[in-house]
Amino acid sequence: MTTSSSPTWSQRFATALNPAIAQFNASIGFDIELIEYDLTGSQAHAKMLVKTGILSPQEGQQIAEGLETIRQEYRRGEFRPGIAAEDVHFAVERRLTEILGDVGKKLHTARSRNDQVGTDLRLYLRAEIAALQGQLRQYQRTLLGLATDHVETLVPGYTHLQRAQPVSLAHHLLAYFDMAQRDWERLEDVHKRVNISPLGCGALAGTTFPIDRHYTAELLGFERVYGNSLDGVSDRDFAIEFACAASLIMVHLSRLSEEIILWASEEFNFITLNDSCSTGSSIMPQKKNPDVPELVRGKTGRVFGHLQGLLVMMKGLPLAYNKDLQEDKEAIFDTVKTVRGCVEAMTILLAEGITFRVPRLQQAVNEDYANATDVADYLAAKGVPFREAYNLVGQVVKTSLGAGKLLRELTLEEWQAIHPAFEADIYAAIAPQQVVAARNSYGGTGFDQVQQALQRARQILGEVE
Ligand code: ARG
Repeated sequence: MTTSSSPTWSQRFATALNPAIAQFNASIGFDIELIEYDLTGSQAHAKMLVKTGILSPQEGQQIAEGLETIRQEYRRGEFRPGIAAEDVHFAVERRLTEILGDVGKKLHTARSRNDQVGTDLRLYLRAEIAALQGQLRQYQRTLLGLATDHVETLVPGYTHLQRAQPVSLAHHLLAYFDMAQRDWERLEDVHKRVNISPLGCGALAGTTFPIDRHYTAELLGFERVYGNSLDGVSDRDFAIEFACAASLIMVHLSRLSEEIILWASEEFNFITLNDSCSTGSSIMPQKKNPDVPELVRGKTGRVFGHLQGLLVMMKGLPLAYNKDLQEDKEAIFDTVKTVRGCVEAMTILLAEGITFRVPRLQQAVNEDYANATDVADYLAAKGVPFREAYNLVGQVVKTSLGAGKLLRELTLEEWQAIHPAFEADIYAAIAPQQVVAARNSYGGTGFDQVQQALQRARQILGEVE
């Protein structure tokens, strides 16, 4: 006999499932996350069953109402299925049968949990992608706001983490804006492959019922349907693609995190961490720690781990559904939660957690040899072949270092002793403000270019035409 605690499929079996195996097999502990999508998918399926004459309109009506009741019960916290239900799909069907009796048992006509779970996961991911894209927009708006405030603020630009050439702080921040834009576009692209309906693929081979897959797809807002039922139930490319897009978001956030951590160190001292976003030490009272960017940097590892886990789970998996696929859910749920949490935290950190120490930045760009390229460019502009100019400036830097002088501290006589082409305008040419302004090539840090980049960013965000 089937009781409310025995598995839905228990009639086929002679003995009860070992409780530890039941626990091991169950996904209800985590796939309850899908319940709202499961209900929505089931409502569309039932509607289609009525449209195609497989269920009567009265049956369809009852099922629709029953599913809505379950939704309300769940939202009120009254419906919390336990391990006996095995997974969210069985849990919903059981509850529906409790509410409706035999009519509830008709819902699963012409469908399998295999196409059902694929549908649920796609609906879930579609909604989460849209939400994540919205968060990325907010993050970009915050970067744009900071960049707008700091066009004229100069910071040392680095290669090999050695001071290279000064840049506008806005230019630096807009690099992260552009990375986030690629992230946003990548999600837009992933969405295309998420938004395909597997519903109606059945267990693996389709169904004997005269279903209308295009109708359910339309009801659920899917753009297309899978053309091959075996592929439809076993494809998880979309989940892997999402994990990949999420991983790249984390790459970008972790790079910004690392810079913030460095900038906040006493060695750099470029920013102050504000109290609302930093934490103290339990033993060293003087400390203020950059926990937020450190956590983001740390969480990057688990997002990469989920991508790797999904890839390995899929590798060599024979068609069509295999229980291995149940493992996709925790990876995807945790990826979604982690990346969304990190984008939110970084947005808050940028908006209120850091203050750039402008006087210190000004000092930094004036205290080094990051204008050496500009001396070479100066000579090259006066006709000295660039490589020759480069070699001369190498000597200048060596001499200046030896004399404990910065380039701007050399006298005109000293400059002219190196090359007669040097004139009094060399001092203006190597002032950091001029060094930055002069890099006016498209996409460069020159102030005109930065203004244009800001304008492009505003266009992307729809703030201007
Ligand atoms: N809980 C299962 C999963 O998450 C649902 C599909 C089960 N299908 C099956 N044939 N056992 O993958």
